[in-house]
Amino acid sequence: SVIILDFGGQYSQLIARRVREAHIYSEILPYDTPLERILDKKPKAIILSGGPASVYSKDAPRCDKRLFETGIPVLGICYGMQLMCHLLGGKVEAAKAGEYGRTELLVDEEGGLFDGLGKKLTVWMSHGDSILELPEGFRTLARTKNTPHAAVSNGKNLFGVQFHPEVAHTPDGKKILSNFLYKIAGCSGSWTAEAFVEEQVRLIRERVGNKRALCALSGGVDSSVAAVIAHRAIGDNLTCIFVDHGLLRKGEKEQVERTFREKFHMNLKVVDASERFLKRLEGVTDPETKRKIIGEEFIRVFEDEAKKLGRIDFLVQGTLYPDVIESGTKTAAVIKSHHNVGGLPEDLKFELIEPLRDLFKDEVREVGLKLGLPEEIVFRHPFPGPGLAVRILGEVTREKLNILREADAIVTEEIKKAGIYGELWQAFAVLTNVKSVGVMGDARTYAYTVAVRAVKSDDGMTADWARLPYDLLDIISTRIVNEVAGVNRVVYDITSKPPATIEWE
Ligand code: XMP
Repeated sequence: SVIILDFGGQYSQLIARRVREAHIYSEILPYDTPLERILDKKPKAIILSGGPASVYSKDAPRCDKRLFETGIPVLGICYGMQLMCHLLGGKVEAAKAGEYGRTELLVDEEGGLFDGLGKKLTVWMSHGDSILELPEGFRTLARTKNTPHAAVSNGKNLFGVQFHPEVAHTPDGKKILSNFLYKIAGCSGSWTAEAFVEEQVRLIRERVGNKRALCALSGGVDSSVAAVIAHRAIGDNLTCIFVDHGLLRKGEKEQVERTFREKFHMNLKVVDASERFLKRLEGVTDPETKRKIIGEEFIRVFEDEAKKLGRIDFLVQGTLYPDVIESGTKTAAVIKSHHNVGGLPEDLKFELIEPLRDLFKDEVREVGLKLGLPEEIVFRHPFPGPGLAVRILGEVTREKLNILREADAIVTEEIKKAGIYGELWQAFAVLTNVKSVGVMGDARTYAYTVAVRAVKSDDGMTADWARLPYDLLDIISTRIVNEVAGVNRVVYDITSKPPATIEWE
């Protein structure tokens, strides 16, 4: 495997992802993991991540210096490279000019890290410190205008790059990483979605033993994949609960029943709790309050159902990496309170099983396909836990839900018909709280405005509004106004994230 030592950089997970994309198993460990523990894992290579600190500051995170004497190939990235040079006797200082963004890299020494890449590359820089003097035995492999030592090596097992090969803005980054992993470290590419499933199945089996686990199944790809993995591990000792909170889209419940009960023969309990939810949402208009209520109520329904089942020790959740950071880790701020993480009360005594915690969406999809989940689920657009409630501005009522459900079904249907569903991260309808005047037939109308939202995104953390063809927008608009009673106007949302978010609430 490959060990990634995390020095608090914002791209540490991305490094892990790139390594997995090269089909090599990787594990992220905190920077202060004892050397013995690292060596126990028998790593084929070690990557030191970037990080926000300066190596010369007093409480700068450091790894054990003996790491560099083990002979294991090490690649330091940004801070990781500076730390390596610093610990080995080089000199790091605040650079006269920092470098941020796309930068031209001039390669002095081809081959090795830069094998097959030529003399000039575009790389992504983000640093204020630079290497001033190399440690003994090191030489420079590449430079940029402002950074004389942009890539270095001791000519043996130690390598460092000042830029970020893991980000998409370094177009040849994947090649650089795979040069390091395959050519320099001699890794073999055996990590695959199958291997991931096998490993997770083994881990869950080990943890759960003969005990029982619950899973809150939403029908989205995340919880579906997590549930199927857990089911593979512990079979009927897993009970899946699907809560119909009344905020679902058209046909959603039926699809879940079809897939999990009929195809996978899983223990599935469908709970109709719409009455409860709608009652608690009566008169509530504040978005965060709505989210909180739904999150809380969800847990309560879940608790009630769990109690009926007797003793259960584990809870399976399809938490993904972006959920984890957007809900506020030590370093990331809370943007919206996502209801699938963090909402569990203290007295709900389940141990969590989160097999997908380190994965990004596209990786989960790959795993889902390998598990035999239908494409309809695997490629289903994300749908927020609080459901249509965050797409109805203002108070949520049955009437508004019915309107939105029909409008949303039209958006989805037309997007699929146009063959672009797969290119979009999400496409859906929003019911604004705005009524406006229209004319239909010969009569004046005064009815709701529906907003159509369609975005492209890699991970939901940033997004661009989709340039849907006018003709498609026209079909969607016409159909909604003609077929959905209570709507006389359709608008298209042309804001990206940031500054907007994908959902309207
Ligand atoms: P925003 O609106 O924050 O959404 O730009 C980013 C992505 O997250 C989804 N989303 C949620 N997913 N529980 C979820 O599981 C939630 O509470 C939630 N809120 C937003 C949203 O659909 C988009 O894909």
